[in-house]
Amino acid sequence: MLIAQVTDTHIKANGRLAYDRVDTADKLARCIAHLNRLPQRPDVTLLTGDLVDAGRPGEYAVLRRLIAPLAMPVYVIPGNHDARGAFREAFTDHAYLPSGGEFLHYVIEQHPLRLIGLDSTVPGKAHGELCAERLAWLDARLAEAPRRPTLVFMHHPPFLTGLHNMDLQNCRNGDALGAIIECHPQVVRLLCGHVHRAIQLDWHGITASIAPSPAHSVAYNLDDDAPHDFTLEPATCHLHCWREDTGLITHLTFIDAFDGPHPFCDPSGKLID
Ligand SMILES: [Fe+2]
Ligand SMILES: [Fe+2]
Repeated sequence: MLIAQVTDTHIKANGRLAYDRVDTADKLARCIAHLNRLPQRPDVTLLTGDLVDAGRPGEYAVLRRLIAPLAMPVYVIPGNHDARGAFREAFTDHAYLPSGGEFLHYVIEQHPLRLIGLDSTVPGKAHGELCAERLAWLDARLAEAPRRPTLVFMHHPPFLTGLHNMDLQNCRNGDALGAIIECHPQVVRLLCGHVHRAIQLDWHGITASIAPSPAHSVAYNLDDDAPHDFTLEPATCHLHCWREDTGLITHLTFIDAFDGPHPFCDPSGKLID
C-alpha cells in the first residue's frame, strides 16, 4: 500500500499569495501532477491539515478544484489554518467524515493499513490539543482492532522538534496521547504536519514523522531566539510504503523538475565507467 502525504498547502483564493510571496495554488498543482506521474500511483492521499490559509469557503473551492485530478481516495483532516464549519461544508461528499459531533476524526477500514485521522485543532488557536473526549475516542477505536496494523495521522505534532517558534504551537498534551499509543502496539507510525519540514523521531515506542509542505518551509534554525521565518526550499512530499514484511518505509520525493533519470549501465548491462 502506497500512501502519499500532502500537508500544509495553505491555499488562498483569488490568486492571492501566502505571506505576499508564496503561490500556494501553483505549488499544490505541481504536487498533484507529481503524484499522478509517479511510477507507482499512490493508493490513497492524506491531506494532513492547513489545507487552506484562512478557513474561508472560497479557499476550499480553489483547493477542491486543485485536488480534483487526484485519481485515488483522498482523506482530509483539519489544521489550525482550517475552520471546522467551512471544512465540513467543503467536503460533504467525503462520506468518512463524521456528520455530527464536534470533532473531525474517523477510521478508514478498507485498506491493508487501518487509518485513523485525528482532529488536533483548537478553534481560533495556533496550537493543538487532544481533549479527554478525543483521547477516549482514539483509545476506544484502537481497542477495537488490536491486531490490525494502524497508521494514526494528525496535524499538530505532539512532541518538540527543536524549532522553537513551532514548538510553542504544537499539540499541548502529547504525553497523554503517547501513553495511549504505548498501550496499542499495532500502531505503526504517527504522521503529522504543521511544521513545514521533514522531521522524524522515536516517540513512545514508535516512529513519528512530520511531512514537508509542497509550498513554503519553516526556516531551519535550532536557536531559541531564531526569527519566525520561512524559506522557499525545493518542494517535496512524503510517500509512505506499507509492506507486511518491512512495515512502513518513508520516501522523500522532489516535486519539481530535475536532471535524470540516467542509466548506471550501458545497453549491454555493463556499469558505465
Ligand atoms: Fe501550516
Ligand atoms: Fe499548522
